[in-house]
Amino acid sequence: MATKTRESTSRQGNRSRPAFTWSAGSAGTLAAAAVAGAAVGLAANLGRKFVVQGLAGASGDWAETLANEHAMVLALFDKIEATENHQTTIRKHLLTKVKNALGKHAIEEENVIYPALRDANSAHDADALNAEHGYVKTFLYELENMEADSPEWLAKIRDFRSLLQKHMQMEEREVFPALKRELSDEQNARLFHAMSREGMKLA
Ligand SMILES: [Fe+2]
Ligand SMILES: [Fe+2]
Repeated sequence: MATKTRESTSRQGNRSRPAFTWSAGSAGTLAAAAVAGAAVGLAANLGRKFVVQGLAGASGDWAETLANEHAMVLALFDKIEATENHQTTIRKHLLTKVKNALGKHAIEEENVIYPALRDANSAHDADALNAEHGYVKTFLYELENMEADSPEWLAKIRDFRSLLQKHMQMEEREVFPALKRELSDEQNARLFHAMSREGMKLA
């Protein structure tokens, strides 16, 4: 309907209006198309975020969501460890996926779960886990600065996985169940929503 109005106005005024009027209208149409395109892009990105977030968080349980994310990261390590030394492009691609997944995961834990742990008088656990996140970043940094076709690269990947697995097990078996028990159902639900909000920012 808006297009029709614009067309009829333009036809009526074609003879008397200077050329720039048409140009302005055309620019407006182009701008509208660009905005529409951006809106489609934004919707697609939002859809992707919901998919990424929904994959791990379908249960509505924060501890289960984090455990699912752990499993997804370890599955990426399985793929990396199955590569040959010459498959450097695949290795770098998979390492980027690990980095992105762990970045989002760390934000969820550091911005929501670990503060909740400190509130629940478990500052010692929160601080120890937080320090390990620092070493996760060190591993990522070192791997990115090594030749991906060297045997040392894969050896470092294995050391990285070992640290991660211990960290994840500590969270899944001890720290998270204890915090969950400490909180009411309502508090646990609030934690899930707060964590999902943080995750959406980086999904
Ligand atoms: Fe963690
Ligand atoms: Fe974790």
